[in-house]
Amino acid sequence: MSERTHIPRHVAIIMDGNGRWATLHGKKRSEGHAAGVEPVRAALRAAIRHGVEYLTLYAFSTENWGRPQPEVDALMELFCQSVVNETPELVRQGIALRMIGDRSRFSEKVQQHLAQAENATVEGKRLTLILALNYSSRDEIVRAVRELATRAITGDLAPNEICEQVIASALDTANYPDPDLLIRTSGEQRLSNFLLWQASYTELWFPEVLWPDFTEKDFDSALEEYARRDRRFGLVK
Ligand code: FPP
Repeated sequence: MSERTHIPRHVAIIMDGNGRWATLHGKKRSEGHAAGVEPVRAALRAAIRHGVEYLTLYAFSTENWGRPQPEVDALMELFCQSVVNETPELVRQGIALRMIGDRSRFSEKVQQHLAQAENATVEGKRLTLILALNYSSRDEIVRAVRELATRAITGDLAPNEICEQVIASALDTANYPDPDLLIRTSGEQRLSNFLLWQASYTELWFPEVLWPDFTEKDFDSALEEYARRDRRFGLVK
């Protein structure tokens, strides 16, 4: 069996290269991140135009806390500003905003802004935008295993009932299909702790473009490449 569906239901993006873009243009790293907001809008426009149902963006990894404090602070401010400013447009476009990752480490203010944006966009039916914030796959898996172990201890779950579906339903992504296509910009070719479980059969695409330069055309090119791929899911044709 082979599957050739031309439009991915779920596209995931590692938005990489903001820092290099800033250096290239003689700007601060935080300015590189600010320049990364317009490409998010472009990716959303293109995703909607193609009928993609889910778009997951790796916005902040658990490892990113180790960056210089001014950069972390600038990113937090940018997330708050962006979700507040963009919420009316998300509502207008029928986009539901969701998050994956451990939000408990964010400040009260950041958590409030994120929750308000999620609540305001809850009716969105056209596309689900999933922001990965304080996310890493290993951290997500650790949290899921803890939850399952707790259920096993309390007698709610027998160890031999644990199967792929049970694990998948304990992950942050329980309500979403696995990504069909994963794009990482800036030419780097690795997953960096992003959706490791979910990307088992995901098609990968590594364009050279730095994230602040990413346009709707780049999204179109990724989908053209995806349409050429022959997904076999480990089976023979
Ligand atoms: C990676 O580039 C990018 C990030 C860690 C931040 C991503 C954030 C945005 C694109 C801002 C807009 C997002 C939303 C959701 C409003 P890097 O800093 O690692 O780049 P480098 O590898 O060139 O240093």
